[in-house]
Order: sequence, then structure tokens, then C-alpha cells
Amino acid sequence: MAKRTVQFICRSCGAVQARWMGKCPECGAWDALEEYVADKSAALDAPRGGAAAEPVEAVKLREIDGDGAGPTRVATGIGEFDRVLGGGLVPGSAVLVGGDPGIGKSTLLLQAAHRLAHAGQRVLYVTSEESAQQLRLRAQRLAENPPDDLYILADTNLARILEQARKLQPTVCVIDSIQMIYKGDLAASPGSVTQLRACCMELVYHAKAHAAAMLMVGHVTKQGALAGPRLLEHMVDAVLYFEGDRYHAHRIVRGIKNRFGATLEVGLFEMTGAGLQEVADGAGLLAAEYESRPGSVVCPILSGSRCLLLEVQALTATGFLGSVKRKVSGLDASRLAMLIAVLEKRGGLRLADQDVFASSVGGMKVAEPAADLALALAIAGAHYNRSVEPGVAAVGEIGLGGEVRRAQQLDQRLSEAARLGFNRVICANDPAKPPKNMQLIQVRTLDQALQAMG
Ligand code: TYD
Ligand code: MG
Repeated sequence: MAKRTVQFICRSCGAVQARWMGKCPECGAWDALEEYVADKSAALDAPRGGAAAEPVEAVKLREIDGDGAGPTRVATGIGEFDRVLGGGLVPGSAVLVGGDPGIGKSTLLLQAAHRLAHAGQRVLYVTSEESAQQLRLRAQRLAENPPDDLYILADTNLARILEQARKLQPTVCVIDSIQMIYKGDLAASPGSVTQLRACCMELVYHAKAHAAAMLMVGHVTKQGALAGPRLLEHMVDAVLYFEGDRYHAHRIVRGIKNRFGATLEVGLFEMTGAGLQEVADGAGLLAAEYESRPGSVVCPILSGSRCLLLEVQALTATGFLGSVKRKVSGLDASRLAMLIAVLEKRGGLRLADQDVFASSVGGMKVAEPAADLALALAIAGAHYNRSVEPGVAAVGEIGLGGEVRRAQQLDQRLSEAARLGFNRVICANDPAKPPKNMQLIQVRTLDQALQAMG
């Protein structure tokens, strides 16, 4: 008989505990432990790569088939999506797509489903949130011809979904969304950790056993993490997140994890009346409406293999000494605090009684330290009401001593800036040869950069 053990699992970090606690000892989250019934025997009997019945033996690495060219991929036909996936969907793999509600997850996956079906792949689209009619209305909005081999299933029961998947044998299966799917024989409610884990695991097994690619939509919580613990991320092969804000046309799909991709890429889209359109070359995407003005500086940043020009904005306003506000959107809050300190100490700015707001235009998340210089100049520009001249961009990391460090792959950044009409770049000393018509304003310290700003 199956042995049942009750465990408690943390909703935010996925750590497993033997007893309930108010606070997760791993991640410190309060009231996050949820009861989880593990079926020990099930774990041992779980199908392995579809060959559950046969005993599995270890093989020598060099005896494993494969021509070294990597897995064969099924391209979705949406170039930017394929780029984030690392070239297309890998049969037998599972991909989790996360993002805020209304950002475009269902739209993107329905568009991909259309393209795949038109290209001769059989696609099963499971819609657990919308009815089949609602989905049909969405498809009409996308103005795509209904392909022959696109099947829609409006259901939330895992057993019925898997039955359809076994019957239809689709090459690509979309689950929109995983949080609404439930497994009938589990007592837990849909969306709970127990359900999420069990459903995700079975879907992943199905993908592996039938060499189908599984695309799953996952909701995110207010804090921006995938709802349900991190363990969903561990169970799948690739995790993609939508970035950008809902009230802005641009959407960024970023790879967070990809077992089959060499780099973590970003894909750019624009939400239009007829679905998501690709923004293929990123030309001026983020700096499209850029005008030189105080508190606004453009920085070429690297995302995966591509370079994007991003506008960084800052605003300073008099606040109350001792309780000033420091807010960021798309940028790193601790980086902002560090830069404010460096500007005070090494740049002579007095910001102690100033509220400072900083944002990356379009809501794209920037983690690169190479954006430091642009942000520091934006803050200084806002503070002194001075703008950098038109055609000037800035890139470089700033150290605690106020020194400006060189950014990696400056050549690529410079050529992208030149291509989009920038002719001067403030950066650290670098042997990089600037493209034609581009002048480097090389600085060693933040002080020099502030002077170079004019
Ligand atoms: P949706 O894909 O439903 O978001 P998610 O599945 O991530 O919750 O996106 C819905 C939003 O996109 C909604 O606000 C309407 C807008 N939209 C368009 O602007 N154009 C379109 O063609 C479609 C289908 C949606
Ligand atoms: Mg949706």
C-alpha cells in the first residue's frame, strides 16, 4: 500500500519541513508553509522518460546517440519568441511562461499555437481560464486564419487533459494556466502547492514520454514571483517572464532559465490591436521618444546577445530631511541608494533632503551595473536641471570610490548607439575603437563625467 507522509512546503521558496511553522526557516516568509501530502511510492514508480516498465540501466556517455548538433527544435515562427527559447521548442521539454495578469501571455501563446499549426504541427491549447468561445473571440482579434490542426480544450481536470493529449498526440501542448488545473484525487484546492506540484510533474512527464513540448502559463504574485513556490521553476526546462508594464505598448519576454539555450535572451514585442507584433531589431524601441532633457540619459545595455538603447530617467524633488523617498521602477533600488551615496560623497551633490525617483523607460528591468553612469548622470541632471547634449549616451559601472569602470563588450554597445544616431558616448577609458562618426568622451571618475555632461 502506498505510504502517505504529511509534509509542509513553503509557498515562496519551496523548502520542505516536517512540521508546521509560522515562519519558513529557509526564506523567512511568514505563514507560507502549506500542508503537502507526499506519496512516497509514487515517486519511485514515476515514469522515466516514458519507459516506466522497463528497467533502466546506466549507459556510457559516448554511447548515447546524438550528432552533437543539439536537440532538434520546433520553431514557433515568431522570431522573437524563438530567440528567447534558444531557437525554438525542444520536443520533450517543458517551458513555463510567467507574467502579470493582462500582459499578453495568452495572446502570445495563442499566436504561437496558430503559427505552429499552420506549419504542420499538431497543437493542443488547453484553456482553463477562458471558455472556448472567449478564446475564439481572441483568435478573431488576432486576425489569424484558423488552422486545421489546432485543437482547443476548455477544461481544468488534469486527467481529462492528459487523456486528450494522449489521444491527439500533439507536438506542442499549451496549458493556460497551470494554476487552474486540478488533479481530482488530491484533496487540496486548485492553485495550492500540492496541486501545482502534482499537476506540473504529470504534465512534465507527459511531455517527456510523448516527446511533446509543453508550454505552461503561470501567474505571478504581487511581489513578482511565480505564484506557487519556486519549485515550478525547478521542474521545467525553461522559464520565461514577461516584463514591461501593462499600460505601455512594449512587452519584453526574458529568459530566466533555459536548459537548452546558450544565453538568456530577451524578445521584444509591441501590443497592438491585432495581438503582439515582433520588434525585430530593437531599433530605437526604448529610446524612440527620447529627447535630450534634464534627468534623462540613454545607455546601451546588453540583454543576451543583443544590445538595446535604454532611456534612464530620474527626478529629484525637495523632501523632508530624514524621511526622503527613493523609488525605482525597472532599476535596482540598492544600486540607486549606492549611487546617491557616491554622488554625495564624490560628486559633491547634496541629496540628503531630496526625494529621488528613477525609472527605466518602458519598464524593462535593468540589472547591469553598466547602467550606473547613465543613472548617476540622470540624477545629477535632474538635480542641477541640466541635460546632456543631444546625441550623447553614457555607459559604465561606478565604483564606491567614484571611479568609472569599463563596460563589457563596449564595441557592440558603441555600434548600436551609432546605428541609432548617437555620436558621442561618455564611458571609461577603453581601447575600443569607436565606429565612424562616433566620438568617445573618456572619463576616469564620476567628477569628470559630471563635467563632461556640460
Ligand atoms: P492576455 O494575453 O489576455 O494577458 P494574460 O494572458 O497575460 O493575462 O492579454 C490581454 C491584454 O492585451 C488585454 O488588456 C487586451 C490586450 N490585447 C490587445 O491589446 N490586442 C489584442 O489583439 C489582444 C488579443 C489583446
Ligand atoms: Mg491569460
